[in-house]
Amino acid sequence: MTDRPMEASARACANIALAKYWGKADRKANVPAVPSISLTLDQLITETRVRFDPSLATDLVRLDGRRASATEAERVVKMLDRVRREARLRARAQVTSHNHFPTASGLASSASGFAALAAAAWTAAGLRFHARRLSALARVSSASAARSVYGGFVELPAGKRGDVDLAARPIAPPAHWNVRLVIALTEPGPKKIGSTEGMERSRKTSPYYLAWLDQAPKWSRTIKRSILNRDLATLGAAMEQSTLAFHCCAMTSSPPILYWAPATLAALGTVRGLRERGVSVWATMDAGPHLKALCGVGDAMRVRQALDRTAGVTRTWVAKPGPGVEVDR
Ligand code: DP6
Repeated sequence: MTDRPMEASARACANIALAKYWGKADRKANVPAVPSISLTLDQLITETRVRFDPSLATDLVRLDGRRASATEAERVVKMLDRVRREARLRARAQVTSHNHFPTASGLASSASGFAALAAAAWTAAGLRFHARRLSALARVSSASAARSVYGGFVELPAGKRGDVDLAARPIAPPAHWNVRLVIALTEPGPKKIGSTEGMERSRKTSPYYLAWLDQAPKWSRTIKRSILNRDLATLGAAMEQSTLAFHCCAMTSSPPILYWAPATLAALGTVRGLRERGVSVWATMDAGPHLKALCGVGDAMRVRQALDRTAGVTRTWVAKPGPGVEVDR
């Protein structure tokens, strides 16, 4: 053990999938069955501090100023255990994490949360920063978190059973393309089914799951190419297909999973209406009712105003490409 204090902080931003991950090739190692591509966003930030302290009898986890629930703490402790094994460390840790998301955003924070936790725990344990290994570590807790280790445009390849080292990799930095993602929060519907549970149910019961596995790589390839070519129309069309196909798998699971609220469809109508009037804007939705609209910087205000006027949209904001994980000791 070193005599340096065994503590570190890390900041990570959330990401939104342009090509969706839905389905696991290996549940235990949490390996995705399809490739996904994301955009890391500024503003949606989690900041986490980890301090290993030999005098602690147990790990202590605080999230947003409160004690973590048993389920939340269990996922954090599993990550700490993996870091302890890697660093050959026994000390328990104190973990404090804050989400700096626009107030009550209702957006999932597991991607930024597990990326920040992986980086803070890794550094606090005295291990040297290594983006690929951090990404693989974050992936085991939540596959989308593997992507938040990097800034800008990022891909996470599909893997196979036992692919324990699978990690995300950067496609292009934030400055590559000044796109905007307009986030429209809708009235939350009935309590949502978490993505882990939702995708397992789709894998086991949706008659469309195999078709999804077959088609998803094609949309991913198109999206990657259109990011490199800065071709918004091709990217947007493939992103909508990937979104609708994954929601189709969810809807046709048994029992069915419907993530949309009436306002989700209204907002989708707004995006399509804008497009009919010549605005280059495309929509995507994740495991919840909120809609995210991808457009060029010049159209962002118009898209935001139209979504603000849409029935059931409670608030909007505009996000831009953001940085990868950052660590301070
Ligand atoms: C719909 O990364 O939350 O947002 O690996 O089980 O933690 P686990 O799932 P998670 O799934 C994200 C699903 C999605 C699409 C995406 O972000 O690619």
